Amino acid sequence: MKTQVAIIGGGPSGLLLSLLLQKAGIDSVVLERQTKEHVLGRIRAGVLEQGLVGLMRDVGVADRLDKEGILHDGTVLSYGEDRLRIDFREHTGTPVVVYGQTEVTRDLYDARDRLGMDTVFEVEDVTLHDLDSDAPSVSFTKGGDTVRIDCDFVAGCDGFHGVSRKSIPASVLREYERVYPFGWLGILSETPPIHEELIYANSDRGFALCSMRNPMLSRYYVQCSLSDKVEDWSDEAFWDELKRRIPSVDAANLVTGPSIEKSIAPLRSYVCEPMRWGRLFLCGDAAHIVPPTGAKGLNSAAADVHYLNEALRDHYLNGSDAGIDSYSARALARVWKVERFSWWMTSLLHRFPDQNDFDLKMQQAELAFLRESDAARSALATNYVGLPY
Ligand code: APR
Ligand code: PHB
Repeated sequence: MKTQVAIIGGGPSGLLLSLLLQKAGIDSVVLERQTKEHVLGRIRAGVLEQGLVGLMRDVGVADRLDKEGILHDGTVLSYGEDRLRIDFREHTGTPVVVYGQTEVTRDLYDARDRLGMDTVFEVEDVTLHDLDSDAPSVSFTKGGDTVRIDCDFVAGCDGFHGVSRKSIPASVLREYERVYPFGWLGILSETPPIHEELIYANSDRGFALCSMRNPMLSRYYVQCSLSDKVEDWSDEAFWDELKRRIPSVDAANLVTGPSIEKSIAPLRSYVCEPMRWGRLFLCGDAAHIVPPTGAKGLNSAAADVHYLNEALRDHYLNGSDAGIDSYSARALARVWKVERFSWWMTSLLHRFPDQNDFDLKMQQAELAFLRESDAARSALATNYVGLPY
């Protein structure tokens, strides 16, 4: 096969990039290891920055988002019984949109189907070749056939466990990582949300988050130990623990019910540099991971896709490689700020096994400063709604 851009990975990064390139008349092929149903079966976060919403609108995929997405002008942080509202609208003039990542991915696939853009699913043995030449290619097997795609560029949108990042020589790649000593136990329940905005709770028993998908679908998380197993947690145990971690005024509003999804996710901060090697460009989870406390995973992937789209448009439409040559530096500059915010929110709102009294006092002082300082709340709001591209 032959294409201009071979995109490895049919998650939100790869799909959004393919649609933005298609809009500029740039051809691409998307290779996905799993089936479409498997990709759409993943339960992930659901808070969208205006930057991502704007990109969805650019590729004509915002109709359902506009109808079903919930605008949030703020969020609540709690510490024990104390509640502090962060007003995004007051500090930034910008809301966020609550709309599940699964729905974003579904909308992107539907748009590709409408445009007759084929995705090659269930590919195996994906291998990247000659990335440091001007004639790279990608090979894969499917149904026993071996296929080679000749291309100009490869976009590695294959997530943390993908093949793309591993194609960058170890002598070139630098990795930065912080693994947190706890996980998030999350459930999805067909119950009305506890509050009209998200509640991020720090409590003596650990972190909790009250989120939502729609007026009859709620998403809740509690910090748990990494040795915990999902089967250790009955629904009842989950609801009891959640009630103990949020202000009693909110616990009184909690509507419980059977969980329709329950899973434990580890927390990690990870960045690799560079995000470009030869003709290979990494986007999203292939290059960086954030703990979910800042709701930045999908949004920072979208920023990468924005920069790469601009760079490739510049190459194909203007004959300039300025964008290509600055892609890695430009993307990483924003990624590190997003990593800092996500690490800061995680450090502020969780209880660490080795935390001592001084550490706790630091959390309390940080929260007191947030309560007293307009500038501190504004800084949080600015990062939460999304830094400019
Ligand atoms: N070949 C083809 N596809 C692959 C390969 C491979 N070798 N390895 C992985 N993939 C596919 C995965 O099956 C997955 O569908 O690449 C896709 C990567 O998608 P995501 O992991 O969703 O990553 P990304 O598109 O960058 O989206 C980032 O996803 O995990 C969340 O929090 C994260 O919200 C962020 C978003
Ligand atoms: C979610 O709705 O799943 C969610 C929201 C905000 C976060 C993390 C997850 O910070």
